[in-house]
Amino acid sequence: LRGTDPIHQVRFPDGQLGWLVTRYEDAAEVLKDQRFMKDISKLYGGSMDQMSVFTQNMLFSDPPDHKRLRGLAQKAFTPKLIAGMRNHIQEIADELLDPLSDRETIHLIDEFAFPLPIIVICEILGVPAEDRDKFRVWSNSLIEGTSGEIGVSIFEHMNQFIQYLGEWFAKVREHPGDDLISQLIIAEEEGDRLTEKELYGVVSLLIIAGHETTVNLIGNTVLALLEFPEQQKLLREHPEMVPQALEESLRYNGPVEFSTSRWASENLELGGRQIRKGDLVVVSLNSANHDPAKFNDPEIFDITREKSPHLAFGMGIHFCLGAPLARLEGEIAISSLLERFPDIQLNIDKSELEWRPGMIVRGVKEIP
Ligand code: HEM
Repeated sequence: LRGTDPIHQVRFPDGQLGWLVTRYEDAAEVLKDQRFMKDISKLYGGSMDQMSVFTQNMLFSDPPDHKRLRGLAQKAFTPKLIAGMRNHIQEIADELLDPLSDRETIHLIDEFAFPLPIIVICEILGVPAEDRDKFRVWSNSLIEGTSGEIGVSIFEHMNQFIQYLGEWFAKVREHPGDDLISQLIIAEEEGDRLTEKELYGVVSLLIIAGHETTVNLIGNTVLALLEFPEQQKLLREHPEMVPQALEESLRYNGPVEFSTSRWASENLELGGRQIRKGDLVVVSLNSANHDPAKFNDPEIFDITREKSPHLAFGMGIHFCLGAPLARLEGEIAISSLLERFPDIQLNIDKSELEWRPGMIVRGVKEIP
Protein backbone atom coordinates (compact mmCIF):
# COMPACT_ATOMS: atom_id res chain seq x y z
CA LEU A 1 0.00 0.00 0.00
CA ARG A 2 2.73 2.44 0.97
CA GLY A 3 4.33 2.06 -2.45
CA THR A 4 1.24 2.00 -4.66
CA ASP A 5 -1.68 3.67 -2.85
CA PRO A 6 -0.28 5.43 0.21
CA ILE A 7 -3.53 7.20 1.07
CA HIS A 8 -5.90 4.35 0.67
CA GLN A 9 -9.68 4.39 0.90
CA VAL A 10 -10.71 1.66 3.31
CA ARG A 11 -13.68 0.34 5.26
CA PHE A 12 -12.61 0.01 8.89
CA PRO A 13 -13.73 -2.97 11.01
CA ASP A 14 -16.47 -0.84 12.60
CA GLY A 15 -17.94 -0.26 9.11
CA GLN A 16 -16.82 3.36 8.67
CA LEU A 17 -15.36 4.37 5.33
CA GLY A 18 -12.22 6.47 5.54
CA TRP A 19 -8.61 7.00 4.52
CA LEU A 20 -5.65 4.97 5.75
CA VAL A 21 -2.37 6.89 5.65
CA THR A 22 0.77 4.76 5.39
CA ARG A 23 3.70 7.01 4.33
CA TYR A 24 5.81 8.76 6.97
CA GLU A 25 5.57 12.22 5.43
CA ASP A 26 1.76 12.13 5.06
CA ALA A 27 1.38 10.55 8.51
CA ALA A 28 3.39 13.34 10.17
CA GLU A 29 1.30 15.92 8.29
CA VAL A 30 -1.99 14.43 9.52
CA LEU A 31 -0.76 14.25 13.12
CA LYS A 32 0.49 17.85 13.11
CA ASP A 33 -2.26 19.56 11.09
CA GLN A 34 -5.07 20.61 13.44
CA ARG A 35 -7.49 20.79 10.51
CA PHE A 36 -7.70 17.04 11.18
CA MET A 37 -9.98 17.18 14.21
CA LYS A 38 -10.62 14.62 16.94
CA ASP A 39 -14.10 15.61 18.04
CA ILE A 40 -16.47 15.22 15.10
CA SER A 41 -19.41 16.52 17.16
CA LYS A 42 -17.82 19.99 16.87
CA LEU A 43 -18.12 19.69 13.09
CA TYR A 44 -21.79 18.80 12.90
CA GLY A 45 -23.15 19.65 16.37
CA GLY A 46 -24.52 17.16 18.91
CA SER A 47 -22.46 14.30 20.20
CA MET A 48 -21.20 11.31 18.26
CA ASP A 49 -20.93 9.17 21.28
CA GLN A 50 -23.13 10.42 24.10
CA MET A 51 -22.97 7.07 25.86
CA SER A 52 -19.29 6.95 26.31
CA VAL A 53 -17.44 8.80 29.02
CA PHE A 54 -14.31 7.12 27.67
CA THR A 55 -13.91 9.79 25.01
CA GLN A 56 -14.26 12.81 27.33
CA ASN A 57 -10.53 13.42 27.56
CA MET A 58 -7.57 15.07 25.83
CA LEU A 59 -7.02 12.26 23.34
CA PHE A 60 -10.44 12.79 21.78
CA SER A 61 -10.70 16.58 22.02
CA ASP A 62 -9.48 19.62 20.11
CA PRO A 63 -8.26 23.01 21.28
CA PRO A 64 -9.20 24.77 23.49
CA ASP A 65 -10.62 21.79 25.50
CA HIS A 66 -7.55 19.72 24.68
CA LYS A 67 -5.15 22.14 26.34
CA ARG A 68 -7.28 22.39 29.49
CA LEU A 69 -7.65 18.61 29.87
CA ARG A 70 -4.04 17.81 29.06
CA GLY A 71 -2.84 20.60 31.37
CA LEU A 72 -4.68 19.10 34.36
CA ALA A 73 -2.93 15.75 33.99
CA GLN A 74 0.40 17.02 32.67
CA LYS A 75 1.66 18.10 36.08
CA ALA A 76 1.96 14.46 37.14
CA PHE A 77 3.95 13.44 34.06
CA THR A 78 6.70 16.05 33.63
CA PRO A 79 10.09 14.51 32.70
CA LYS A 80 11.53 15.80 36.00
CA LEU A 81 8.84 14.18 38.16
CA ILE A 82 9.08 10.95 36.20
CA ALA A 83 12.89 10.88 36.48
CA GLY A 84 12.44 11.14 40.26
CA MET A 85 10.52 7.83 40.18
CA ARG A 86 13.49 5.82 38.86
CA ASN A 87 14.52 4.20 42.16
CA HIS A 88 10.96 3.36 43.10
CA ILE A 89 10.18 1.78 39.71
CA GLN A 90 13.42 -0.22 39.97
CA GLU A 91 12.26 -1.49 43.38
CA ILE A 92 8.93 -2.61 41.92
CA ALA A 93 10.76 -4.36 39.05
CA ASP A 94 13.09 -6.10 41.52
CA GLU A 95 10.20 -7.24 43.69
CA LEU A 96 8.51 -8.75 40.66
CA LEU A 97 11.68 -10.40 39.36
CA ASP A 98 13.12 -11.72 42.65
CA PRO A 99 10.83 -14.78 42.82
CA LEU A 100 11.33 -15.46 39.08
CA SER A 101 15.09 -15.28 38.78
CA ASP A 102 15.82 -18.95 39.53
CA ARG A 103 12.97 -20.27 37.45
CA GLU A 104 13.50 -22.21 34.25
CA THR A 105 10.43 -20.70 32.55
CA ILE A 106 8.65 -17.45 33.28
CA HIS A 107 5.54 -15.96 31.70
CA LEU A 108 7.01 -12.64 30.71
CA ILE A 109 3.75 -10.78 30.09
CA ASP A 110 1.68 -12.07 33.02
CA GLU A 111 4.43 -12.12 35.61
CA PHE A 112 6.42 -9.00 34.71
CA ALA A 113 5.51 -6.85 31.68
CA PHE A 114 1.87 -6.46 32.73
CA PRO A 115 2.17 -5.88 36.50
CA LEU A 116 5.07 -3.39 36.33
CA PRO A 117 3.35 -0.52 34.46
CA ILE A 118 -0.06 -1.10 36.06
CA ILE A 119 1.40 -0.92 39.58
CA VAL A 120 3.16 2.34 38.65
CA ILE A 121 0.13 4.03 37.06
CA CYS A 122 -2.13 2.91 39.94
CA GLU A 123 0.28 4.53 42.40
CA ILE A 124 0.43 7.80 40.40
CA LEU A 125 -3.36 7.95 40.16
CA GLY A 126 -4.02 6.68 43.68
CA VAL A 127 -6.13 3.60 42.84
CA PRO A 128 -5.44 0.24 44.51
CA ALA A 129 -2.96 -1.79 42.44
CA GLU A 130 -4.59 -4.98 43.86
CA ASP A 131 -7.50 -4.27 41.53
CA ARG A 132 -5.22 -4.49 38.49
CA ASP A 133 -6.76 -7.70 37.19
CA LYS A 134 -10.14 -5.96 36.98
CA PHE A 135 -8.58 -3.04 35.07
CA ARG A 136 -6.97 -5.53 32.74
CA VAL A 137 -10.29 -7.19 31.90
CA TRP A 138 -12.06 -3.86 31.36
CA SER A 139 -9.36 -2.23 29.32
CA ASN A 140 -8.78 -5.36 27.20
CA SER A 141 -12.47 -5.21 26.39
CA LEU A 142 -12.28 -1.59 25.28
CA ILE A 143 -9.03 -1.96 23.34
CA GLU A 144 -9.79 -5.27 21.65
CA GLY A 145 -13.50 -4.54 21.09
CA THR A 146 -14.59 -7.83 22.66
CA SER A 147 -15.22 -8.84 26.26
CA GLY A 148 -13.39 -12.14 25.79
CA GLU A 149 -16.11 -13.79 27.94
CA ILE A 150 -19.03 -15.76 26.56
CA GLY A 151 -22.33 -14.04 27.32
CA VAL A 152 -20.71 -10.82 28.59
CA SER A 153 -20.91 -7.72 26.38
CA ILE A 154 -18.24 -5.06 26.25
CA PHE A 155 -20.90 -2.62 27.55
CA GLU A 156 -21.18 -4.65 30.73
CA HIS A 157 -17.46 -4.28 31.26
CA MET A 158 -17.64 -0.54 30.56
CA ASN A 159 -20.45 -0.16 33.08
CA GLN A 160 -18.50 -2.12 35.69
CA PHE A 161 -15.48 0.12 35.06
CA ILE A 162 -17.57 3.31 35.40
CA GLN A 163 -19.23 2.00 38.55
CA TYR A 164 -15.85 1.11 40.07
CA LEU A 165 -14.51 4.59 39.33
CA GLY A 166 -17.64 6.24 40.77
CA GLU A 167 -17.25 4.33 44.03
CA TRP A 168 -13.56 5.13 44.16
CA PHE A 169 -14.14 8.86 43.49
CA ALA A 170 -16.65 8.93 46.37
CA LYS A 171 -14.00 7.52 48.73
CA VAL A 172 -11.39 10.01 47.52
CA ARG A 173 -13.81 12.93 47.96
CA GLU A 174 -14.04 12.01 51.65
CA HIS A 175 -10.30 11.48 52.15
CA PRO A 176 -8.31 13.27 49.43
CA GLY A 177 -4.56 12.57 49.24
CA ASP A 178 -1.77 13.99 47.10
CA ASP A 179 -2.32 11.59 44.20
CA LEU A 180 -3.51 12.63 40.73
CA ILE A 181 -7.16 11.57 41.22
CA SER A 182 -7.42 13.77 44.31
CA GLN A 183 -6.05 16.71 42.30
CA LEU A 184 -8.47 16.05 39.44
CA ILE A 185 -11.39 15.82 41.87
CA ILE A 186 -10.45 19.19 43.35
CA ALA A 187 -10.42 20.61 39.79
CA GLU A 188 -13.85 19.06 39.20
CA GLU A 189 -15.27 20.41 42.44
CA GLU A 190 -14.02 23.88 41.62
CA GLY A 191 -16.43 23.72 38.72
CA ASP A 192 -15.15 25.29 35.57
CA ARG A 193 -11.98 23.28 34.93
CA LEU A 194 -13.27 19.71 34.69
CA THR A 195 -16.77 18.26 34.29
CA GLU A 196 -17.77 15.01 36.00
CA LYS A 197 -17.80 13.13 32.68
CA GLU A 198 -14.33 14.46 31.92
CA LEU A 199 -13.11 13.25 35.31
CA TYR A 200 -14.16 9.71 34.33
CA GLY A 201 -12.75 10.19 30.83
CA VAL A 202 -9.31 11.38 31.91
CA VAL A 203 -8.87 8.78 34.67
CA SER A 204 -10.00 5.86 32.49
CA LEU A 205 -7.70 7.01 29.66
CA LEU A 206 -4.72 7.14 32.01
CA ILE A 207 -5.46 3.69 33.44
CA ILE A 208 -5.85 2.19 29.97
CA ALA A 209 -3.01 4.08 28.21
CA GLY A 210 -0.83 3.67 31.28
CA HIS A 211 -0.57 -0.08 30.97
CA GLU A 212 -1.93 -1.43 27.67
CA THR A 213 0.98 0.12 25.80
CA THR A 214 4.03 -0.27 28.02
CA VAL A 215 3.28 -4.00 28.50
CA ASN A 216 3.76 -4.41 24.78
CA LEU A 217 6.81 -2.16 24.64
CA ILE A 218 8.51 -4.59 27.05
CA GLY A 219 7.18 -7.70 25.26
CA ASN A 220 7.93 -6.46 21.72
CA THR A 221 11.46 -5.40 22.70
CA VAL A 222 12.21 -8.86 24.10
CA LEU A 223 10.83 -10.43 20.91
CA ALA A 224 13.02 -8.18 18.73
CA LEU A 225 16.10 -9.08 20.80
CA LEU A 226 15.28 -12.77 20.29
CA GLU A 227 14.72 -12.27 16.57
CA PHE A 228 18.06 -10.45 16.20
CA PRO A 229 20.48 -12.29 18.55
CA GLU A 230 23.51 -10.26 17.39
CA GLN A 231 21.68 -7.11 18.56
CA GLN A 232 20.98 -8.77 21.91
CA LYS A 233 24.68 -9.64 22.21
CA LEU A 234 25.66 -6.06 21.40
CA LEU A 235 23.21 -4.73 23.97
CA ARG A 236 24.49 -7.10 26.65
CA GLU A 237 28.02 -5.84 25.95
CA HIS A 238 26.82 -2.21 26.03
CA PRO A 239 23.99 -1.93 28.58
CA GLU A 240 24.21 1.86 28.29
CA MET A 241 22.57 1.41 24.88
CA VAL A 242 19.24 0.24 26.37
CA PRO A 243 17.50 3.65 25.84
CA GLN A 244 18.41 3.70 22.15
CA ALA A 245 17.47 0.01 21.77
CA LEU A 246 14.03 0.96 23.12
CA GLU A 247 13.69 3.76 20.58
CA GLU A 248 14.53 1.27 17.85
CA SER A 249 12.00 -1.17 19.28
CA LEU A 250 9.35 1.58 19.27
CA ARG A 251 10.13 2.15 15.59
CA TYR A 252 10.49 -1.49 14.61
CA ASN A 253 7.51 -2.94 16.48
CA GLY A 254 5.63 -0.05 18.08
CA PRO A 255 2.93 -1.04 20.63
CA VAL A 256 0.30 1.28 19.11
CA GLU A 257 -0.56 0.15 15.60
CA PHE A 258 -2.80 3.02 14.46
CA SER A 259 -3.45 6.60 15.52
CA THR A 260 -6.89 7.40 16.87
CA SER A 261 -9.43 8.66 14.32
CA ARG A 262 -9.32 12.18 12.95
CA TRP A 263 -11.83 13.97 10.72
CA ALA A 264 -11.09 16.64 8.11
CA SER A 265 -12.63 19.93 9.27
CA GLU A 266 -12.55 21.32 5.69
CA ASN A 267 -11.87 20.15 2.15
CA LEU A 268 -8.12 19.74 1.82
CA GLU A 269 -5.36 18.02 -0.09
CA LEU A 270 -3.16 15.34 1.43
CA GLY A 271 -0.32 13.72 -0.52
CA GLY A 272 -2.08 14.51 -3.82
CA ARG A 273 -5.48 13.16 -2.66
CA GLN A 274 -8.58 15.29 -2.21
CA ILE A 275 -9.93 14.80 1.29
CA ARG A 276 -13.43 16.15 1.85
CA LYS A 277 -14.77 17.89 4.94
CA GLY A 278 -15.97 15.23 7.39
CA ASP A 279 -13.79 12.41 5.97
CA LEU A 280 -12.31 10.00 8.50
CA VAL A 281 -8.50 9.70 8.43
CA VAL A 282 -6.40 7.15 10.33
CA VAL A 283 -2.61 6.91 10.36
CA SER A 284 -0.76 3.59 10.41
CA LEU A 285 2.03 4.52 12.82
CA ASN A 286 3.88 1.26 12.27
CA SER A 287 3.72 1.58 8.50
CA ALA A 288 5.10 5.15 8.71
CA ASN A 289 7.87 3.82 10.97
CA HIS A 290 8.82 1.30 8.26
CA ASP A 291 8.81 3.80 5.40
CA PRO A 292 12.05 3.29 3.43
CA ALA A 293 11.89 6.96 2.36
CA LYS A 294 12.54 7.86 6.01
CA PHE A 295 14.46 4.90 7.49
CA ASN A 296 17.25 2.93 5.80
CA ASP A 297 16.66 -0.83 5.85
CA PRO A 298 13.45 -0.41 7.87
CA GLU A 299 12.89 -4.16 8.29
CA ILE A 300 16.17 -4.48 10.21
CA PHE A 301 16.17 -4.04 13.99
CA ASP A 302 19.34 -2.01 14.46
CA ILE A 303 20.03 -0.54 17.87
CA THR A 304 22.92 1.53 16.53
CA ARG A 305 20.55 3.54 14.30
CA GLU A 306 21.07 7.29 14.51
CA LYS A 307 18.47 9.10 16.63
CA SER A 308 15.19 7.91 15.21
CA PRO A 309 12.31 10.32 14.59
CA HIS A 310 9.73 7.51 14.86
CA LEU A 311 6.02 8.19 15.28
CA ALA A 312 5.35 5.50 17.90
CA PHE A 313 4.25 8.14 20.43
CA GLY A 314 2.43 10.21 17.78
CA MET A 315 3.31 13.82 16.96
CA GLY A 316 1.88 17.30 17.44
CA ILE A 317 -0.47 18.36 20.23
CA HIS A 318 -1.57 14.79 21.01
CA PHE A 319 2.02 13.52 21.39
CA CYS A 320 1.91 10.86 24.10
CA LEU A 321 1.65 12.39 27.56
CA GLY A 322 3.08 9.24 29.11
CA ALA A 323 6.17 8.97 26.88
CA PRO A 324 8.72 9.84 29.63
CA LEU A 325 7.10 7.27 31.93
CA ALA A 326 6.91 4.57 29.25
CA ARG A 327 10.57 5.15 28.33
CA LEU A 328 11.69 4.92 31.95
CA GLU A 329 9.64 1.78 32.66
CA GLY A 330 10.91 0.20 29.44
CA GLU A 331 14.52 1.03 30.28
CA ILE A 332 14.28 -0.41 33.79
CA ALA A 333 12.41 -3.51 32.58
CA ILE A 334 14.81 -4.39 29.76
CA SER A 335 17.98 -3.60 31.76
CA SER A 336 16.74 -5.73 34.67
CA LEU A 337 15.79 -8.66 32.42
CA LEU A 338 19.17 -8.66 30.65
CA GLU A 339 21.01 -8.39 33.94
CA ARG A 340 19.17 -11.22 35.66
CA PHE A 341 18.76 -13.62 32.74
CA PRO A 342 22.06 -14.20 30.89
CA ASP A 343 20.37 -16.49 28.36
CA ILE A 344 16.82 -15.73 27.23
CA GLN A 345 15.04 -18.10 24.89
CA LEU A 346 11.48 -18.49 23.72
CA ASN A 347 10.20 -21.77 25.06
CA ILE A 348 7.55 -22.26 22.36
CA ASP A 349 7.86 -22.10 18.61
CA LYS A 350 7.71 -18.51 17.30
CA SER A 351 4.69 -19.46 15.17
CA GLU A 352 2.78 -20.28 18.37
CA LEU A 353 2.94 -16.70 19.65
CA GLU A 354 -0.59 -15.38 19.75
CA TRP A 355 -1.00 -11.75 18.66
CA ARG A 356 -3.66 -9.71 20.42
CA PRO A 357 -6.79 -8.95 18.39
CA GLY A 358 -8.02 -5.44 17.56
CA MET A 359 -6.67 -2.55 15.55
CA ILE A 360 -5.04 -0.50 18.26
CA VAL A 361 -2.50 -2.48 20.21
CA ARG A 362 0.33 -4.51 18.72
CA GLY A 363 1.63 -7.13 21.10
CA VAL A 364 1.42 -10.81 21.94
CA LYS A 365 -0.77 -12.34 24.62
CA GLU A 366 2.06 -14.20 26.35
CA ILE A 367 5.80 -14.82 25.97
CA PRO A 368 6.96 -17.97 27.78
C1 HEM B 1 -1.34 9.61 23.40
C2 HEM B 1 1.50 5.85 22.25
C3 HEM B 1 2.36 5.01 26.95
C4 HEM B 1 -0.91 8.38 28.09
C5 HEM B 1 -0.62 8.67 22.69
C6 HEM B 1 -0.54 8.61 21.24
C7 HEM B 1 0.23 7.56 20.93
C8 HEM B 1 0.67 6.94 22.16
C9 HEM B 1 0.60 7.07 19.52
C10 HEM B 1 -1.21 9.59 20.25
C11 HEM B 1 -2.40 9.00 19.54
C12 HEM B 1 -2.95 9.92 18.48
O1 HEM B 1 -2.45 11.05 18.26
O2 HEM B 1 -3.94 9.52 17.83
C13 HEM B 1 1.98 5.32 23.43
C14 HEM B 1 2.97 4.26 23.49
C15 HEM B 1 3.22 4.03 24.82
C16 HEM B 1 2.38 4.93 25.58
C17 HEM B 1 3.60 3.57 22.29
C18 HEM B 1 4.14 3.04 25.48
C19 HEM B 1 5.17 2.54 24.93
C20 HEM B 1 1.56 5.85 27.67
C21 HEM B 1 1.51 5.93 29.11
C22 HEM B 1 0.56 6.87 29.42
C23 HEM B 1 0.04 7.40 28.18
C24 HEM B 1 2.39 5.11 30.05
C25 HEM B 1 0.05 7.38 30.73
C26 HEM B 1 0.46 7.26 31.82
C27 HEM B 1 -1.28 9.00 26.91
C28 HEM B 1 -2.22 10.10 26.85
C29 HEM B 1 -2.35 10.45 25.51
C30 HEM B 1 -1.48 9.56 24.76
C31 HEM B 1 -2.93 10.75 28.04
C32 HEM B 1 -3.22 11.57 24.94
C33 HEM B 1 -2.39 12.83 24.80
C34 HEM B 1 -3.17 13.97 24.15
O3 HEM B 1 -4.15 13.75 23.43
O4 HEM B 1 -2.77 15.13 24.39
N1 HEM B 1 0.13 7.65 23.22
N2 HEM B 1 1.64 5.68 24.69
N3 HEM B 1 0.66 6.75 27.15
N4 HEM B 1 -0.85 8.70 25.64
FE1 HEM B 1 0.48 7.25 25.19
